Amino acid sequence: MIQQLQESAAYIQAHTEGFAPEFGIILGTGLGALVKEIEIKYSLSYADIPHFPVSTVESHSGRLILGTLAGRNVIVMQGRFHYYEGYTMNQVVFPVRVMKLLNVKKLFVSNAAGGLNPQFNTTDLMVITDHINLQPSNPLIGKNIDELGPRFPDMSDVYDEHMIRQAMVIAEDADFDLREGVYASVPGPMLETKAEYNYIARIGADAVGMSTVPEVIAARHMGMPVFGISVITDMGTPDRIKKVVLKDILDAAAVAEPRLAMLIRELVRQQ
Ligand code: HPA
Repeated sequence: MIQQLQESAAYIQAHTEGFAPEFGIILGTGLGALVKEIEIKYSLSYADIPHFPVSTVESHSGRLILGTLAGRNVIVMQGRFHYYEGYTMNQVVFPVRVMKLLNVKKLFVSNAAGGLNPQFNTTDLMVITDHINLQPSNPLIGKNIDELGPRFPDMSDVYDEHMIRQAMVIAEDADFDLREGVYASVPGPMLETKAEYNYIARIGADAVGMSTVPEVIAARHMGMPVFGISVITDMGTPDRIKKVVLKDILDAAAVAEPRLAMLIRELVRQQ
């Protein structure tokens, strides 16, 4: 595994003239527009990078983008890998581990999620303050890769407090309500039943989605500070459950996208 990670990292370095990314960004469903804010220096197709999984979801394009955002060097995953696509957890988190080998200092993750907190509305942004892993596995199962991190990594403070506070101030200055809450990750790909939405809300989640937690676990295993944010694309509270169609999720994500792009840009600027 380490050797594969090193070969991927070496390929990326060789094809980007030694460009040194400081921050990693993973863009979720329909949130690709942050890319427009980036001064792109290099764009690599996942298919060309040795050992990289290849994205299969239509709404995700599989490219690794290296460039500058607010004057800082970033590496951006345009399209991520989901457990429900059939990848192993190690494949899902492979690019995050490669980022670490490229010396990336902090990780920013976004996703689309169903809202469970009755105070939320579709198109809201929610800063992730903690998570609940409801996926049937995680990327640390199996022999520990000691070069990456410890066997039993702490998970008591997963999401960086300082960046959460910075995000709240940025939102306040820009005059929009930024929610905070707990993100539960389910395997998918089916959406939740009414009973499942109810259950996930009762165990303490404010939002539910099908990604993010594996990558965050891998990042924290390696000691990388993480900032996570969800776009609430539909509501799973008992009185507001509607039949979810992908188009509605993408439309809601598109409404939130400019705010999300601004937030990540300003947050990166402040690191
Ligand atoms: N549930 C799970 N994943 C999701 C949802 C949801 O309601 N909305 C967007 N991703």
